[in-house]
Amino acid sequence: MPVITSIEDLKRMHRARTPRMFYDYAESGSYTEQTFRENTTDFQQIRLRQKVAVDMSNRTLASDMIGFPVSMPVALAPVGFTGMQDADGEIKAARAAEAFGVPFCLSTMSICSIEDVKEHTTKPFMFQLYVMRDQEFLAAIIERAKKANCSALVLTLDLQILGQRHKDLKNGLSAPPKLTIPTMLDLATRWRWGSGMLRTKRRSFGNIVGHAKGVTDAGNLSSWTAEQFDPQLDWDKIAAIRDMWGGKLILKGILDADDARRAADFGADAIIVSNHGGRQLDGALSSIRMLPEIVKAVGDRVEIHLDSGIRSGQDVLKALALGAHGTWIGRAWIYGLGAMGQAGVTAALEVIRKELDITMALCGERDIKNVGRHNVLVPTRWENEYT
Ligand code: GLV
Repeated sequence: MPVITSIEDLKRMHRARTPRMFYDYAESGSYTEQTFRENTTDFQQIRLRQKVAVDMSNRTLASDMIGFPVSMPVALAPVGFTGMQDADGEIKAARAAEAFGVPFCLSTMSICSIEDVKEHTTKPFMFQLYVMRDQEFLAAIIERAKKANCSALVLTLDLQILGQRHKDLKNGLSAPPKLTIPTMLDLATRWRWGSGMLRTKRRSFGNIVGHAKGVTDAGNLSSWTAEQFDPQLDWDKIAAIRDMWGGKLILKGILDADDARRAADFGADAIIVSNHGGRQLDGALSSIRMLPEIVKAVGDRVEIHLDSGIRSGQDVLKALALGAHGTWIGRAWIYGLGAMGQAGVTAALEVIRKELDITMALCGERDIKNVGRHNVLVPTRWENEYT
């Protein structure tokens, strides 16, 4: 077993073990990838304020997210194609999350279906929904999430049209992969991945194939998603979905203070400040950079979470310090999954937990809930660099 000391270690292993097409899918941003890059480099510009001679014993990272207790305020974000990074990936990740005491959110575009994950876990998980034009399919998938006792619906608002990721087009991304000569040569060198895939039945989009009309294979599916995501999504439709769902609702993809006000007026249980990991609007500012403005606008009215760019426990602490109540990781756990399956997801969570704990202590805090603006130093030019 290799010694894992950072998320970067898992990323290197993921890259070596997983077919290029799926590693690239996870590791892409849209167009020039400026926003994708800045999501991480902006975290690096925030500095931590060291405090000494304070009692560091009895520390706790325990908190809550939308009212549910969590062992640390870090949830596993929904990621499409997860079961292509490693066989049965969503089941493995959900199990790692439940053992760790953090939330797992299943993507609409997952390989394992809602029912598959429900059957192989013991605690409720969240479900992320893309709003489709097909009303029958939309109503049915919400019902399926209810039946599986999902703990919250995470409605993604920033992907009604897909941002272009150049690598996916060049690689001919699909699930299952199409067997072209370059793909076969690549797959032939990924023994561990291939043996897992041969043993599982789950190799296409489990929530969709067999559920949505006319979708029988991946080729059909890609055109189906392009046609089916509802470009007319608006607040009335969001309200209709809330009524159909009837449970806790998280709105994901808010990056603007006015949108955040709207979401707070609407009464969401939480919003996720997110630019979809830099995969949608290239040129948008990083999530961490937009966070203070959104906290100022609605921090007293709605629970605020953040994703996009978190690769360490230090990043988690910085997001909490700037006013996020909870955080979400995507690539960080996907690297773990691609590297070592379920044990890799646990390793990713463990790396982040240790970094968060030690960083909190060296900042002079013992309770994660007390972390705040006083723990960080933010470049002053951020305040008015862009208007
Ligand atoms: C889907 O959510 C994606 O970003 O590819």
